Amino acid sequence: MDPAVLAQVLRPLKGLFPPEQYPELLVGLSVSDDAAVYKINEDTAVIQTLDFFTPVVDDSYQYGAIAAANAMSDIYAMGGRVVLALNICAFPPQLPQKMIADILRGGAEKVVEAGGALVGGHTIDDNEPKYGLSVMGLIHPDRILTKAGAESGDLLILTKPLGVGMITTALKRGIADPAYVAAAVHSMKILNRQASELIRQLDVHACTDITGFALLGHGAEIAEKSGVRLRFTFEKLPFLEGAVEYAGDNVFPGGSCKNQRCYHEQITFDAGLSEEQQLLLFTPETSGGLLAAVPPDELPRLTRLFKAVGQFYAIVGVVEEGTGIHVTL
Ligand code: CO
Ligand code: CO
Ligand code: CO
Repeated sequence: MDPAVLAQVLRPLKGLFPPEQYPELLVGLSVSDDAAVYKINEDTAVIQTLDFFTPVVDDSYQYGAIAAANAMSDIYAMGGRVVLALNICAFPPQLPQKMIADILRGGAEKVVEAGGALVGGHTIDDNEPKYGLSVMGLIHPDRILTKAGAESGDLLILTKPLGVGMITTALKRGIADPAYVAAAVHSMKILNRQASELIRQLDVHACTDITGFALLGHGAEIAEKSGVRLRFTFEKLPFLEGAVEYAGDNVFPGGSCKNQRCYHEQITFDAGLSEEQQLLLFTPETSGGLLAAVPPDELPRLTRLFKAVGQFYAIVGVVEEGTGIHVTL
């Protein structure tokens, strides 16, 4: 959905839940972050989120696994662990039973990998298949990672390459290289669990996951909520093979322009960046990586921790004083 429209329709709802009437609600509509957080006691808070979407790939099992990894990602973006998951299913009545079984198995096996339990769900008939999860996680109330807290001087780290939105769009148009698709599917299926557990060992100041609002949309939220400006360096941004090529061929999904319309006022680019390069950074991601702000003195420890377990990461920019985002060459 158009992020600007979403913000507009949600605004009147915020007034119904004034924070002072919900003192245990650490993160809700009025703060808004990757997921809601509710404090149970001094040691425990519950994280709640849900996500579902229409198929992004042809293979039913892979679709289920990607949708589940994507739905659980917001728990990891908040620094939590996955505990319970419920299936959200809308399937055409004529969809073969084997396909439904494969989608659900793909999702359930991801929940197992996350260390959580799948405990139920809800199913309706629908012409276009939709699948995802409602997820409950737990976290210590003092250890919540939010989009607020990034400080001038912090480094910005990204834990997955960008570009799955370009490759899944090329796939829908029947022009995608199968090797590019396989790499994109592999990336989307990776849980953000390990990246989140590593980041939590650092003095991390802010964290979010990169999904539908793209690097620049989700980055703009960190900038706004932290009261800082993010500076990304284009040549340091990691892309999946094929993404830049498809951008050159103008294979953008509709979401790229929606995000650009919504966020362009908060973002400036170096004159040398082409229209395609700019639009690439507005392109929606599915089950993307974590974007985190960490102080520069944590870099040696970050490098050691991430390399020890082979976790992908890239240092993609810095946090500065100011507002919005600037992208340099
Ligand atoms: Co998120
Ligand atoms: Co989400
Ligand atoms: Co600090």
